Amino acid sequence: MIFLSKKKDTEIDPGCLPEHIAIIMDGNGRWAKSRGLPRQAGHAAGCEAFRRIGTYCRDIGVKYLTVYAFSTENWKRPEEEVSTIMSLFKQYMNEAVEKMVRDNIAIHVLGDTSKLSPELLELVGRMEELSKSIKNGLTAYLCINYGGRADILQAASKIAGDVENGLLKAKDINEKLFSDYLYTSGMPDPDLIIRPGAEMRISNFLLWQSAYSEFYFTDVLWPDFNVNELNRAINSFQKRSRRFGGV
Ligand code: FPP
Repeated sequence: MIFLSKKKDTEIDPGCLPEHIAIIMDGNGRWAKSRGLPRQAGHAAGCEAFRRIGTYCRDIGVKYLTVYAFSTENWKRPEEEVSTIMSLFKQYMNEAVEKMVRDNIAIHVLGDTSKLSPELLELVGRMEELSKSIKNGLTAYLCINYGGRADILQAASKIAGDVENGLLKAKDINEKLFSDYLYTSGMPDPDLIIRPGAEMRISNFLLWQSAYSEFYFTDVLWPDFNVNELNRAINSFQKRSRRFGGV
């Protein structure tokens, strides 16, 4: 009898990891509902999942992790829910400023931060400052009040301003230049975008940057997303052939 050794779907090749993983953290509300808990408990568990996945990404050597934490549309949620999510950000950032250097995790915020409270803004500034000394660990980006369309619009508006002021010529606008005006300026595009929570859509996340990203969808709800789930996503990514429009 011949036994074929089958690679487990959680096995990953550490030699060809995605450099940049982005995640749409969906399913917190349903996770809470299925346990008879308030939605807020789902967001708290979602925050825990982010800590778990961030630590694992750092440990295996993923360079960038970007998570969709609050969209430009999420302000439409009930005030109590928005306020819980903002409190979770505050709690997380307060912890981060204490631990991020020791943990070797740089943390930045992407999005229109002008709507954040002064307290949160102060913490965002402190995280930026501390991130400067973190060179070889994980760089995490929290997308807060972020929208892909809003990002493209703010870039277009800044470019138009620079053309008006004579700092730029319209003929010099190309993909590289446009990318440099986006919130994600200087970052590589995501190689792998993961969406847990059983929906299969992009929901206004990284619209420009996802042009050649690989997508991975799973029914697992974000608070249940663990190391094995991430390994499954990476395993799937590693089986694909990326051609970037070539052959
Ligand atoms: C989507 O699930 C989740 C959000 C809009 C909020 C995500 C926020 C967190 C996970 C807190 C993160 C905190 C840090 C510091 C990263 P949903 O509420 O739409 O879930 P549902 O589709 O099941 O209702």
